[in-house]
Parts: sequence; structure tokens; C-alpha cells
Amino acid sequence: MSSTTGTISGSAERWGPLWGARPADWALSEDQQIPTYEEALRRVELEPGQLVLDIGCGVGAFLRLVCDRDARAFGIDASETLLAVARERVPDGDLRVGDMEALPYDDDTFDLVTGFNSFFFANDIVAALREAGRVAKPGAPVIIQVWGQHERNDLEAMKELVRPFMPPRPADAPPEPDYAKPGVLEDIATQAGLTPERAFDTTWAYEYPDDDTLRRALVAPAGIAVLVGPDHEQEVKDAILAGLVSHRTPDGGYRLRNEFRYLIARA
Ligand SMILES: C[S@@+](CC[C@H](N)C(=O)[O-])C[C@H]1O[C@@H](n2cnc3c(N)ncnc32)[C@H](O)[C@@H]1O
Repeated sequence: MSSTTGTISGSAERWGPLWGARPADWALSEDQQIPTYEEALRRVELEPGQLVLDIGCGVGAFLRLVCDRDARAFGIDASETLLAVARERVPDGDLRVGDMEALPYDDDTFDLVTGFNSFFFANDIVAALREAGRVAKPGAPVIIQVWGQHERNDLEAMKELVRPFMPPRPADAPPEPDYAKPGVLEDIATQAGLTPERAFDTTWAYEYPDDDTLRRALVAPAGIAVLVGPDHEQEVKDAILAGLVSHRTPDGGYRLRNEFRYLIARA
């Protein structure tokens, strides 16, 4: 299948260079989320030959599972460098750089549309979900995944630490709700014209074998290393390590339990 590099704008322009700054280090975390993708796939019927679009597909960990089930993988992401990794893993996929708020696909195309921890990077999440629903076939499932309740996420300490470095939302962007609160995803999906079907939570753990891997892995997401800058990178890495020291395992590694919240909605 084809691999296209398109133009990017909006939230993709803001996030693409940041998310794409350290693809291999980001893959250290994304690849550990496979059990959470399996959990989602167990709840929808995916048949060989069906067309699946993953929005904000990153390095392609989910799309690899799609190919393994003989379905056809389509991915879009703001970052060309993350897609370069995804192309190696999903050589038969159709992988494009683009913006989730303006998807480059025809109406009613896909049998399943997913967004794992990606939709909330849109300037307007309702607009992004409306696009997801537009390109899904009528009645097809749209899987929306977000972080679960803060107190159930060991990564919360690290997120608190880096939040002040995150780029501000555009002045005209709608306010961000707390997506983990019961009913919030359902409300947003409904506003986007989707029909919420069922929500569920799943817990799993990121594991890093040593201090150095933890530091590298945790300044990769969302371009944290770029945002803090070279002068402060080590300082922030050390602060992250200190914030997570209680999750150290007897062998010197780290185990961080987290929760994702999912909504399966229908187009
Ligand atoms: C938290 S990562 C999730 C990656 C992968 N889906 C996963 O499960 O780990 C968020 C992804 O959304 C992408 N992204 C952010 N804003 C985007 C936009 N406006 N359009 C398309 N992709 C976007 C980023 O480049 C990044 O790959």
C-alpha cells in the first residue's frame, strides 16, 4: 500500500515535531501498551480484509496487531519520524502524515476507527471525533482511549512535573474537560454525532529495566526533552526519577501501573 507525506496544520503542526523528536525512546513505552490494544480488540469484531484506521498511530504498535489479524491497516499521525518507524513495522499499511481534525479520507470508508491516547491532542476534540465518525462506515465502532483516573496512574507524578513545560492551548481552543471522569467521553462523543455504546477501564504496567532507560523513555513523549531544552534535560530526568523512586523493583527496574479509559462508540 502507499505511504504518503501530506501537509500538516493545526494541532498536528504543533505536536508533530515534539512527538517525533525521539522515536526510538518513545517506542520503549508505546510498545508496552500492546495488552491495552488487545483488550480493545477483544470488544469489537474485526474480520480479515476489513479496513482499520488508527488516528495518532505513533510508531504503529496497534497497526501491527491489525495486520496480524489480516485486516488492512491505515494510520495517520502528526509526526513523520514516528511514521518512519511504523512503516518498518507495517510495510503493507497506508500511513500518512496529517491532522486528525481534517482527515484525508472519504466518508464512510473504515470498518473500525481508533484513537489511542491521541484525540485529546486535537485543538478541538469534538471536531476530531466528528472526523473519525465521518470516515467510519455507518454503525462502525470508533474506539476512543484516554488516561484513566489520576489516582490510578503511577505516571501521574511525572505528568505533574512536566505539565508546566507543555505548549499552551490556542486561545480560541475550547476548554479541556477531565476526560477520565465518568460520562465525559460519552458526552463528547455524543456532541460529535457518535453513539456511545460502552465504556471500560483497563490497567497494565510500563516496565523499564533500569534508571537510564526510565529517564530516556520518560522525556521522549510529547517532546518533553525538546520543551525543557538541553540545559535542563538532565535536571528534569533526575526529577522524574526521584518522583518515581517508590516504583522501583528489587532488581533495580521500575514498574508503573496505569489505567486507560475507553469508550466504544458507533458512527
Ligand atoms: C500519546 S501518543 C499515542 C501514540 C499511540 N497511539 C499510542 O497508543 O501510544 C499521541 C500521538 O498523537 C499524534 N498527534 C498529536 N496531534 C495530532 C494531530 N493533530 N493529528 C494527528 N496525530 C496527532 C502524536 O504525533 C503522537 O504520535
